[in-house]
This record gives sequence, structure tokens and C-alpha cells, in this order.
Amino acid sequence: VRVAILISGGGSNMAALIDAAAPADAPYEVVLVLSNDPEAGGLAVARSKGVHAVAIDHRPFGKDRATHEASLQAELDAASVQVVALAGYMRVLTPWLVGRWAGRMINIHPSLLPKYPGLDTHARAIAAGDSEAGCTIHIVTDGVDEGPILAQTQVPIVPGDTPASLAQRVLEAEHALYPRALADFCRTLD
Ligand code: GRF
Repeated sequence: VRVAILISGGGSNMAALIDAAAPADAPYEVVLVLSNDPEAGGLAVARSKGVHAVAIDHRPFGKDRATHEASLQAELDAASVQVVALAGYMRVLTPWLVGRWAGRMINIHPSLLPKYPGLDTHARAIAAGDSEAGCTIHIVTDGVDEGPILAQTQVPIVPGDTPASLAQRVLEAEHALYPRALADFCRTLD
């Protein structure tokens, strides 16, 4: 299955997904990385791993999300992409692009959904006194962080945790979960 990864930042999840696809019998290959931020560190990481990586800066498009997304879609089409994996892509997608990829776009979110959709998940979990946090892989639908859940990993919240220390623990869980969940998802499409 030909996969594209959409990023906005450092791309540590992207790197984990690319690395996990190295074995010849892997059920997916990463054929494209797209970023809305030309400064995203993940672009260079992707290229160092031999993956075609393209930045399409959203800022020149202003409020015109549709035209920005049409540019993303053109890249996805050009690379014959079959599945899109969001990995720290920090733009909300319009119903047009979500609909175009219905059932073929997945996302990673750093909370145990349905708890804490949106931003600042770790601070919210600590403030609530939760004993567990974690990460979720879900199918992307119009509602942000609302689609059907494919997989989750729980991690403990320990005394003295800060949002940063918890984020680090969750991120390590993300790096293990996302490649496994994407592989399982792609196997269901064959
Ligand atoms: C991850 O925690 C992801 O769940 C969240 O943003 C972070 C991206 O990190 N949406 P990276 O770019 O994969 O390192």
C-alpha cells in the first residue's frame, strides 16, 4: 500500500513509520511526505531516509484552505498515494479533503480518545488527576479527533509528571503504536 505522511514538525512519528516499512514484507511503503511548514525538521529527516518530501506552505494561501488542499491533493495524486497518515499535521482539514480520503486517512492523537481531543492533552490529563494517559490511532472524519478508533496504548501518569515528561512517555508509546496500527490498517485494505 502506497502511503503518504503529512507533518508539520519534527516528524519523529513519521520517522518511525518510514523505518518500520523497511522490511521487504512490510504491508506499506512510504512514497511521499508532505508538510505545510517549509521549516519542518521532518522534511530533511524524510529525505535522509530516501523519501520524497515536499513542503506546501499554507501561509501564501491565507484563508483559502481549499486551494492549499488542492495543492496537497495534486501531490498525493502524482505519487499514486492510497493511504494518508497524519503525523503531527497541525492544520484542520476541510470536509473536501477528508471526504476525498474517507476510510483511507488515519491520524495519531496524544490522548486516550475520546478524552482530550484538541490541544494541550498532557496538561489537561495531569490537571484532571488522571492516573493514565496514552495515544490513539483513529480514522479521520470531519469532526476533529472524532473518527473510529483503531488502536490505543496506555501509559501511566506518575507523581511529579509535567506536561513535558508525560509527553515524552506518550511519544515513545506513539512510536511503537503507529507503525503497528498503520500496518494492520493497510492489511485490511488488501
Ligand atoms: C505527536 O505527539 C502527535 O501525536 C501530535 O503531535 C506530535 C508530533 O510529534 N499530534 P512528531 O512530529 O511526530 O515528532
